[in-house]
Amino acid sequence: MTAALDPANQPYEAPAGLAGVSVARTHVSDVLGRQGFYHYRGYNAVDIARRGRVEDAWHLMLRGELPTPQERAAFAAQTAAWRQLPDGVAELLPAIARQSPPGSLAALRTAISLSAQALGCKPWTDQSDAETVEQAARLSALMPVLAAALFRLASGLEPIQPRTDLGYSDNYLYMITGEVPDDRSRYAVERYLMLTIDHGFNNSTFTARVIASSGADLGAVVSGALGALSGPFHGGAPARVFDMLDAIGSPENAEPWLRHAIEHGDKLMGFGHRIYKTVDPRSELLHEVARELHSERVAFSEAVEKTAVELLAELKPGRELYANVEFYAGVVLEAAGLPREMFSTTFACSRIIGWMANVLEQIRDNRIFRPLAHYDGPAAPREFPSSWQPAQP
Ligand SMILES: CC(C)(COP(=O)(O)OP(=O)(O)OC[C@H]1O[C@@H](n2cnc3c(N)ncnc32)[C@H](O)[C@@H]1OP(=O)(O)O)[C@@H](O)C(=O)NCCC(=O)NCCS
Repeated sequence: MTAALDPANQPYEAPAGLAGVSVARTHVSDVLGRQGFYHYRGYNAVDIARRGRVEDAWHLMLRGELPTPQERAAFAAQTAAWRQLPDGVAELLPAIARQSPPGSLAALRTAISLSAQALGCKPWTDQSDAETVEQAARLSALMPVLAAALFRLASGLEPIQPRTDLGYSDNYLYMITGEVPDDRSRYAVERYLMLTIDHGFNNSTFTARVIASSGADLGAVVSGALGALSGPFHGGAPARVFDMLDAIGSPENAEPWLRHAIEHGDKLMGFGHRIYKTVDPRSELLHEVARELHSERVAFSEAVEKTAVELLAELKPGRELYANVEFYAGVVLEAAGLPREMFSTTFACSRIIGWMANVLEQIRDNRIFRPLAHYDGPAAPREFPSSWQPAQP
């Protein structure tokens, strides 16, 4: 049978990058791109980020509802206890950290995979739902601990033990700097973390669900999702925004530098979004937080943003390109005391909470993802070339 006659080759062809295609039903989150609005389980995500703590949003994602004060306290205590590294992991972190620069997502991927094995993660098909839920929460609690320890080790410093008496964000900064942060820094980092927990079917979330749909264990899911996150078109962008700002150097250089980059087909880091065709609401809140922090970079970043948006409108008319979440993320994180190398790993710490909520939803109503590809190569079946002399089987 030729490929063209095979009924499995359906005529429907999805657009490149699956743009505009819904590939699953979800109760976890959604992004309404034209309205510049997104939500977590129906609640305005920016409002949650303004008013709550990481533990509130985490509880909402994992358990399905915002917590009562008693539930929040119990959840915070439980997840703080899960900051303890599983047996055998701490000893191996120096070897992992030696292989990569500080803040490497590749190192984090190795460490989280190791931790998942140490926690006994099995294919979810071979364990109970309760076991999978607990592993999902434990891996989320471990991500910041691993990220901070690897950063310090790769920087030639001793890791700092997590504290159970600190909230998620205070503890995160404490494990990196060794000091309990002031309220301003904690507030800033916490807004960033809460804003980036989930965001519809973004690339790494989709990856997580695809891997989970095969029945794989959560270690495989998280390491695969981290791989997706590491790319510059996704979570690898914020440090590159700083590289771009450094390269521009001064407000006067913004126009010629950005024009040259766009005209040469470069993507400006921190601009554009598949879904948002208006201002990214995450960027708006982070811009606000950056101003409150009186960061030296704010005025310059604002000048670059304004010039970039004008130039993108002129040189890419109709594409509706604005600053995305990554543009002010770095300004906020740096002003709160996080080094540039930690921007992407910090993103991984919040996004794992969204990945886990999505994966739990996936496995409770699972069908393996197995789409088609439109074969566009030489017509099949091909004649074997006479030059090919197969070895004896
Ligand atoms: C986010 C992103 C991957 C979305 O990609 P996408 O939906 O596939 O968008 P496309 O690449 O199809 O872009 C559509 C058009 O806008 C242009 N464009 C998109 N983002 C751009 C950017 N940041 N700078 C310059 N041009 C951009 C594309 O070149 C394309 O132009 P064309 O029609 O002349 O070919 C893309 O905007 C990007 O790479 N941004 C920079 C990286 C970034 O900030 N990532 C973090 C995302 S939260």
